[in-house]
Order: sequence, then structure tokens, then C-alpha cells
Amino acid sequence: MSKQFDVIVIGGGPGGYIAAIRAAQLGFSTACVDEWKNANDGPAPGGTCTNVGCIPSKALLQSSEHFEHAGHSFADHGIDIKEMTLNLPQMLARKDTVIKQNNEGILYLLKKNKVTFFHGRGSFVKGDANGYEIKVAGKTEESISAKHIILATGSNARALPGADFDEKLILSNTGALTIGAVPKKLGVIGAGVIGLEMGSVWRRLGAEVTVLEALPALLSAVDDQIAKEAAKLFAKQGLNISLGVKIGAITAGKKDVSVEYTDAKGEAKKAVFDKLIISIGRTPNTTGLNAEGIGLQLDERGFINVDGDCKTNLANVWAVGDVVRGPMLAHKAEEEGVAVAERIAGQHGHVNFNTIPWVIYTSPEIAWVGKTEQQLKAEGVAYKAGTFPFLANGRARALGDTAGMVKFLADAKSDEILGVHIIGPMASELISEAVVAMEFRASAEDIARICHAHPSLSEATKEAALAVDKRSLNF
Ligand code: FAD
Ligand code: NAI
Repeated sequence: MSKQFDVIVIGGGPGGYIAAIRAAQLGFSTACVDEWKNANDGPAPGGTCTNVGCIPSKALLQSSEHFEHAGHSFADHGIDIKEMTLNLPQMLARKDTVIKQNNEGILYLLKKNKVTFFHGRGSFVKGDANGYEIKVAGKTEESISAKHIILATGSNARALPGADFDEKLILSNTGALTIGAVPKKLGVIGAGVIGLEMGSVWRRLGAEVTVLEALPALLSAVDDQIAKEAAKLFAKQGLNISLGVKIGAITAGKKDVSVEYTDAKGEAKKAVFDKLIISIGRTPNTTGLNAEGIGLQLDERGFINVDGDCKTNLANVWAVGDVVRGPMLAHKAEEEGVAVAERIAGQHGHVNFNTIPWVIYTSPEIAWVGKTEQQLKAEGVAYKAGTFPFLANGRARALGDTAGMVKFLADAKSDEILGVHIIGPMASELISEAVVAMEFRASAEDIARICHAHPSLSEATKEAALAVDKRSLNF
């Protein structure tokens, strides 16, 4: 006998578990199926984000930043540390504890909201608009059914042909978060978000990091002015980034891995690394769903085909998060999960793709929302720009963290904010003000006229908004 639910969510990452909680809040009997296992083969919901993504990477970024501060900037604050050593096993153990706390937190939340959790792989057996049967293959096999299915099966790291991840020498994000000893020489292929974040972690801990990037410019999705500033700061920190390279043969030896490549000048090069991280993007994960058997349409890149409302080609089957088009971000997955649950309930769930913030958790952090200057130019939009450097912000000086700036882009006529770009301390937190402002279609003047606490980093946001009208007060 198949256990009956109103909604079954397959995948317990940020897209899936949030969709399940929202569906349960709306009164649906809801199941969430997730196959991720912890070291004891127990359930570890939270998906990529919790287990091998957002959470562990931010834990290691925090620890490694403390290590770097203790080694370099504490002396400037009058704190002398003699004989500082790195306890990497403890750093990794702390990261694992943070993961475990999040896994347990999600299990608690599912229970609290009366979502029934199934640990195992979910796949379609049969069904139509009236309902679908899902097989859950875990320690035991169960059959469950529901009228509505939400697919949130996430993504996996993309490998380079001929260089499969062994997670010992050739590492995906999974291996990059568990390196047991600081490599002397670390290679990173792809200077995207993962490459820069994980490259920063291991550089701070003492590795000599070389990042090989195919594109001729760093961070091409970021506002040009901010990306140029980032490139300068990363170079100063000792992150060795080569742009415009073409990767050739990658050969794993017994203890190291060699990478042949052509540099931007067309010269053939070979580099040997103790470890190599490959971070060249991610591919959608539909393995094991029996998509073909049930007739679920995928696009040419393997993403589940959805419309603007996250509806698939199958009646009452929805898909959210990394497994569908759009940015691969945890908060985008969550917003889609909430919106789909609300649509199932007949409400008008909505995700505003124009106001999804991006954050790169390097030091300094990079965060943005809305359009870049190069996008506005390409679209022929008349705009005004205002910038304010953290160097002129009192709080940043007190923190000893003055690199970077806030940049506003506003419509030349209406003054509506079109984009906000930040490189600097706590950019990840500062960007929220810009997101709220853009959601309410605020003008730059609205931010400029709001009282911001002193001394605070957010005063740089206000000052950049003032700068749009060329009336900064502190610069
Ligand atoms: P996932 O989190 O991938 O979850 C999918 C879940 O479904 C997994 O648990 C998987 O085991 C399960 N599953 C798959 N198929 C089945 C099946 N058939 N049956 C049962 N279970 C199944 N994003 C941010 O916004 N901020 C960050 O700081 C950030 N940092 C990141 C750092 C790294 C190193 C990486 C790799 C990613 C990072 N991301 C970050 C991206 C973020 O992790 C993803 O966008 C997010 O996890 C996507 O959520 P999701 O629910 O779509 O999928
Ligand atoms: P990415 O798309 O951010 O960057 C991949 C980089 O690799 C690009 O610069 C690309 O030009 C380069 N590249 C591609 N093929 C290459 C090749 N053959 N040789 C050399 N370079 C090549 O992808 P990444 O870093 O793997 O991260 C995947 C996704 O995970 C991100 O796009 C993001 O959505 C998410 N993520 C988000 C984070 C955050 O929000 N802070 C942190 C980490 C990941």
C-alpha cells in the first residue's frame, strides 16, 4: 500500500526542505525525500548547501580569516601572538560540527512542521495529473503517492573531460572542503565563485595558490569597476590568477597532479600541483528520478524544463532550485520552493529575479544586486553612478578594513536604483538594504535621505547614494 500525501518533495536541500515546510504550513500533508547520508549512513538533509557548499565553505572561510588576522593584522591592533600554529584537524572538525548542527536543525524543522521525512532515493513509478507514485529506496523500500510533486534534486560539480574527481588529488567542492593537510602548491581551474572562495581559504592557511581561468577577464558577471578592484586586491594577497588559459591534459600521478595549458599569449605551460580543485560550474542532477520513464522533459543541458512558474511538462509536477534554469544560489532555490508551495495552494507565489542578491565571500566580500554598469551601457539605459570608498568610512577605519567601495547605479531621469555593487567589509550584510530598496523601487535619493547609524559601514551605502547626485558629505 502506498502512503498517501498531498505533496511530495524530492530533495531536501534549501529548495526542497523549504518548499516542504511552506507546503505543510499551508495545510498540505507533506513528505520530503532526501538521500544524502552522513558519515554514519544516517540522514543529512540540507543538500549541497549544508553538506558540501554554502555552510562548510563559510565555516572554513571564517576560520581561515581568523587565522590570517591572527598572523597578520592582530599586531597592528596591539595584540602580539607568539608561536601561533594551525590546528587543521580542529578547524575541519569545527566545520563538520557546523554541518551536523544544520542537518539536525533541518530534521527538527521538518518534524516541527509535521513534514514526514524519508531517507532514500526517490524515483517516479507511475502517475498522471491525478497523482504520482514515488518509490523511495533507502535502508528499506517504500511506496508513497501524492497529487503534487516538487522536484528539488540540485546539482553536481562539473568535471573536465579526462580528469574525473578522485577527491584525493583532483577535487570537486567536496574534496576541497576536506583537504587533510595544507597543500604546498594548490591548483584551481576556474576563477568563479568556488575557485575564489576555496582558493582564498587554502591561501590563507599557507598554500601557494594558482588559479587558471579560461575567460580573458576576472568575474565577468560582476560590475567591471568592482571586478577590477577585486583583481587588484586578490593579486596583492598573493592569489596567483592566470586569465585566458586553455586547459590541456591533466595527469594525476601518485602524489601530485600536472596540468598542461596554453597561457593567454599562446605559450604552452605545465604546472605541477599537490592538489587540484576543478570549479568550472555545476550540472543539474536528475540521476535516478526515472525522468525518462515518466516523460519528464529536460533541456539540452540536462536541466528540468520549467516555465516561469516552475511548472514542468507533467501536470502537477514542479521543479525548483539548481535543477532548473536561473542562478545556482541557495536563496533562489528557497524563494522558488516557497512560491511553488503557494501556487499549489492557489496563491500567487512570486520570485523577483531582478532582485536576487549575489555574494562572493572572499576578503573583501563582493556583493551585488541588479544591473552592472556594462549591462546598462549595452542596453542603452541612461544612468547616473555614485561611488564611495570604505577608506573614507570611520567604522571601516576602526575595523582596519578599508579596501573597496559601494557603487550605486540609478536611472538618469527617475533616479530609481538599477543596481548596487559592493566590494568591502560585510558586503554580504550591506547588500540587503539595496535589495529592500530595489524591491520597493526606491530612488537613490530615498537611501540618501534615510538616517544611517554612525559609525557604521552602512554609512558608505548612504554616501554612495548621495554621490549619485554628486553630494557626498564625507568624501
Ligand atoms: P541541493 O542543495 O543540491 O539539494 C538537493 C538534494 O536533493 C541533495 O540533498 C540530494 O542528495 C537530494 N537528491 C537528489 N536526487 C534525489 C533523489 N532522486 N531522491 C532523493 N534525494 C535526492 N549558494 C549560496 O546562495 N550562497 C553560498 O554561499 C553558496 N556557497 C556554495 C559553496 C559551494 C562550495 C557550492 C558547491 C555551492 C554553493 N552555493 C551557494 C550554491 C548552493 O549550494 C546551491 O545553489 C543550493 O544548494 C541549491 O539548492 P537545491 O535545493 O536546489 O539543491
Ligand atoms: P562559476 O560559474 O562561478 O565559475 C566557473 C568558472 O570556471 C568561470 O569563471 C568559467 O569561465 C571558468 N571555466 C569554465 N570552464 C573552464 C575551463 N575549461 N578552464 C578554465 N576555466 C573554466 O562556477 P563554480 O565556481 O564552479 O560555482 C558553481 C556555482 O555554485 C556558482 O555559479 C554559484 O551559483 C554557486 N556558488 C555560489 C557561491 C556563493 O553564492 N557565494 C559560492 C560557491 C558556489
